[in-house]
Amino acid sequence: MSSISVSHGSGPDALAQALAQQHVIILVDVLRASSTIVTALANGASQIIPVTTVEEARERIYHFPNGFLAGERAAHPPAGFDYGNSPRSFLTDRIRGRPIILTTSNFTRTLGTPPETATILVGAFLNIEHVATTARTLAKKLQQPVSVISAGSIRGYAAEDDFTSHHIISRLQFPDDPPSYADLGDISRELLVSHHGTILVQAGYKDDIRFCAQTNRYNLTPILRNGAFISYSSAFNS
Ligand code: MLT
Repeated sequence: MSSISVSHGSGPDALAQALAQQHVIILVDVLRASSTIVTALANGASQIIPVTTVEEARERIYHFPNGFLAGERAAHPPAGFDYGNSPRSFLTDRIRGRPIILTTSNFTRTLGTPPETATILVGAFLNIEHVATTARTLAKKLQQPVSVISAGSIRGYAAEDDFTSHHIISRLQFPDDPPSYADLGDISRELLVSHHGTILVQAGYKDDIRFCAQTNRYNLTPILRNGAFISYSSAFNS
């Protein structure tokens, strides 16, 4: 039986409510921002700085001379950006020790600019067990419930985020049970048939979906600290 309280919501309003109640928040945008942030930190990026607009990203990069610009609009990298939002493009040593300014259509818009005191983690299949364990630890330490928030889409609901969120919730509530998530093929299929999955396939990013469907590739949880996502273990072991 779970000893922590867990709830689920979708989009900016649900996030605002969870923030107001000081919940431990797991923000989920499995295709692809959550998966990209986890992958970039796991491959040595020093921090991921989320910003809402392309213009803001272009301005912020001047404060980070060794940084990279990354993100997407309509699935593709904005003009002049170093990287898009394909998690596979961060499987490179080039980003080691370097900050990345990230702007995406839904994740960074849903995130907005939360208060400095907020506890916001990033969840995906790539780090499902690690993020669930980290959230449980923080919930017990802070004596707060956990809210798993699907970033959603401009249309509101995003089936692939809810699918991922529900598997994360199951790991939060029943950590000692065998995982409820299916194998790589089943998760891939579920992500592929989602509305955003079909858009990514049409845009030529089908391989990203298979990549994002991997479970526990990384033992790492991004946490927002001073406006940037860093690895939870580096935040608390330094
Ligand atoms: C988003 O934040 O809207 C997404 O991650 C979009 C994408 O890159 O597929």
